[in-house]
Amino acid sequence: VVDIGKLYAQADVFTFDPGFTSTAACESTITYIDGDKGELLHRGYPIEQLAEHSHYLEVCYLLLYGELPTAAQLKDFEARVTKHTMVHEQMHNFFRGFRRDSHPMATMVGVVGAMSAFYHDSLDINDPWHREVASIRMIAKLPTIAAMAYKYSIGQPFVYPKNALSYAGNFLHMCFAVPTEDYVVNPVLEKAMDRIMMLHADHEQNASTSTVRLAGSSGANPFACIAAGIACLWGPAHGGANQACLEMLKEIGTVDRIPEYVAKAKDKNSGFRLMGFGHRVYKNFDPRATVMKQSADEVLGLLGIENNPLLQVAKELERIALSDDYFISKKLYPNVDFYSGIILEAMGFPTSMFTPIFAISRTVGWISQWKEMIGEKNQKIGRPRQLYVGAAKRDYVDTRHR
Ligand code: ACO
Repeated sequence: VVDIGKLYAQADVFTFDPGFTSTAACESTITYIDGDKGELLHRGYPIEQLAEHSHYLEVCYLLLYGELPTAAQLKDFEARVTKHTMVHEQMHNFFRGFRRDSHPMATMVGVVGAMSAFYHDSLDINDPWHREVASIRMIAKLPTIAAMAYKYSIGQPFVYPKNALSYAGNFLHMCFAVPTEDYVVNPVLEKAMDRIMMLHADHEQNASTSTVRLAGSSGANPFACIAAGIACLWGPAHGGANQACLEMLKEIGTVDRIPEYVAKAKDKNSGFRLMGFGHRVYKNFDPRATVMKQSADEVLGLLGIENNPLLQVAKELERIALSDDYFISKKLYPNVDFYSGIILEAMGFPTSMFTPIFAISRTVGWISQWKEMIGEKNQKIGRPRQLYVGAAKRDYVDTRHR
């Protein structure tokens, strides 16, 4: 590996790489992807093994600290996260400033950014204790904030966290419990939610993670950096794809309409893409999609809705797209978002909550990457160059002569 940046800076030249298709902007020990093989490893552990044997908070520990925890370390970590699940009571007022019909992602960008106003005792990025507390606070509070954004949007009272529950179970509780009835978390849904969270926990230098790193490279506080990551995640080419994908499946509606949509996706002039297909790095099956597909089968089966029409459309769309020359030649395979929406909808979430759930899950990845960057010896501010293609130097002309 050559540090091209240094060499080119000395020679006063730079590379032009729109979309960063061939530029590594950092070194990292957190996540490895082999896009050709369809392999994803966190700290060396294959995602399939983690999905089968681990759970979300253990994966959080692995991403943050580099090793799987001992039983005592895990217990301590879980206790630390649990301790921070409540948000400052004053934040309730902050939520109330938003329109009820705001998208929960819009609310989250604002509220997470505002955490730097509520938790300014953990803003000093040069203090390891501050970094640690800010990290734990965000992992613990993001589900509470997302659930509050949801409850606010449907006009129901906020539900306080219940710390006896698991991380995923608590999130379901905060979203679906109402004061007038007892709510018992369905263990099938709890496991599925935990798995969705695990599969989204980190994915090296995707757009939102790079955004977090870039924001953090200036020394911005961690809450501001994660808010920037959430804003970037919202785009339909990134985290917003799970919402867009389910909406597309609903629009297709029945299996017989699939060829029409496949034809539209192949037509460059249509501006339409099959949401949930394609990936910048994976040129093979996204391994997370494989696990998610199994999960969708399991959850829908256990809920007794395996004949869900959306799942049928999804499976047939996958079959047709994977046997089509256009998709084969461009190596467009289903990505993680292709199946996650079906599970989330079966759980009772509206599509607008899909991306907030992605944001909760990815927070640990963003934080791990941010911490890794802050810990670098010669950490530099991220400052891409540009290829200027505008007007040549010219003289100002007064309005009377324009
Ligand atoms: N449907 C139809 N054609 C597609 C699709 C798609 N979903 N994705 C890519 N293509 C085509 C492009 O038109 C392009 O064709 P061309 O070479 O003839 O110009 C070619 O495949 C390469 O596409 P790019 O956009 O250059 O690939 P890039 O790596 O920049 O984009 C991306 C990757 C954004 C994921 C893209 O595949 C896409 O828009 N997919 C749909 C949205 C989606 O599912 N996003 C989720 C990504 S995963 C995640 O964030 C968790």
